[in-house]
Amino acid sequence: MNPQNALNIDDLRVAAQRMLPRVAYEYLERGAEDEVSMRENRSAFERIRLRPRTLVDVSRRSQQVTLLGETYPVPFGIAPTGAAGLYWHDADVVLARAAAAARIPFVLSTASFVEMERVAREAPGAKWFQLYASKDRGPVERLIMRARDAGYEGLVVTTDVCVGSNREYNLRNGFEIPFRLNMANVVQGALHPRWLVNVFLRTLLTTGVPRFMNVDSNVGGKIVAKNLQEFRARRDALDWEDLAWMRGIWPHKLFVKGVLCADDARRAEAAGADGVFVSNHGGRQLDGALSPIEALPEIADAVGHRMAVVLDGGVRRGSDVVKALALGAQMVFVGRATLYGASVAGEAGALRAIEILRSEVDRVMALLGCRSVGEITRDHLVLP
Ligand SMILES: Cc1cc2nc3c(=O)[nH]c(=O)nc-3n(C[C@H](O)[C@H](O)[C@H](O)COP(=O)(O)O)c2cc1C
Repeated sequence: MNPQNALNIDDLRVAAQRMLPRVAYEYLERGAEDEVSMRENRSAFERIRLRPRTLVDVSRRSQQVTLLGETYPVPFGIAPTGAAGLYWHDADVVLARAAAAARIPFVLSTASFVEMERVAREAPGAKWFQLYASKDRGPVERLIMRARDAGYEGLVVTTDVCVGSNREYNLRNGFEIPFRLNMANVVQGALHPRWLVNVFLRTLLTTGVPRFMNVDSNVGGKIVAKNLQEFRARRDALDWEDLAWMRGIWPHKLFVKGVLCADDARRAEAAGADGVFVSNHGGRQLDGALSPIEALPEIADAVGHRMAVVLDGGVRRGSDVVKALALGAQMVFVGRATLYGASVAGEAGALRAIEILRSEVDRVMALLGCRSVGEITRDHLVLP
């Protein structure tokens, strides 16, 4: 599909579904258990109404935002998504390049299929590294130091994965990383020959079996842990003291991802974090968890004047971005939206997703009577 033919993010999703075998598409699209939180991430946005002001001269509009001293042309960035290489060859590089072209932040997942040093070399622009940590500080320190040495400007510590979530479709589909072929996947691959050749076989022939390159291999002699099990050791024992320790060894911006209440945002601040991602992991971890847009106001009120508050989860339209900004987010991140684009057409597809959101934010701001992000306020919303 020519990504220019996509008129909205859902067009990209539908095209991505056609391109991908079920095992890959369901890993991208679905949530945990009964997907209550995933659905709620969307419906909580939909319940919020907009209250426009009319006859405002909006002929000059800007979406520019400043977050922790950096200025970005649009108020959104790309959230970390592990296993992105299942959707496009070297998708981690492709997404980072799209972000650089749009001058927005890109967060590389620990669970990327391209090692962080290569992403840093092959994509310019502002990049942050998302950290999956374990209680065992040795491997964590090695990862953090590698991110520092590779030039990452931010560390995003994901805290909502103390245990693996319950995603039953992954079990049914035989989803595993390192990626394993089973009968169903072979059949699915045969039904999606472009994916089989351009994504799966190309990866196999260049870097080997798709796997988590930051932690699961000896990349350039940079062993982090002997294996994934060792790396994940006692992840369920992590606590705020570990975060304070990470603060001590990480010299740049530090974010805590997975915060859903004001009290935890205050604890993140006390541990020395610069910002929080208000997030329920796209509804992929604790099913039934409240949606980030519902959690946002109390968090923004509690810490928003002292630290960065950003949100991810369920953002599919420019109006969602504007609603989050109105409720106190300083920036918004998208996970699936740019992945749909990358699945369809690599960098051009991710850029199309960014352009769709940019133009939608612009239109919504104009129709609301807002010339700048600073003019978007809670008065522009009617809350349920
Ligand atoms: C396929 C996929 C993989 C993800 N992998 C990670 C990850 O490795 N680390 C992380 O912190 N969050 C991960 N997330 C969660 C995203 O960072 C983000 O919180 C979520 O996608 C936001 O919701 P949205 O997809 O509705 O925009 C992943 C999400 C998806 C869809």
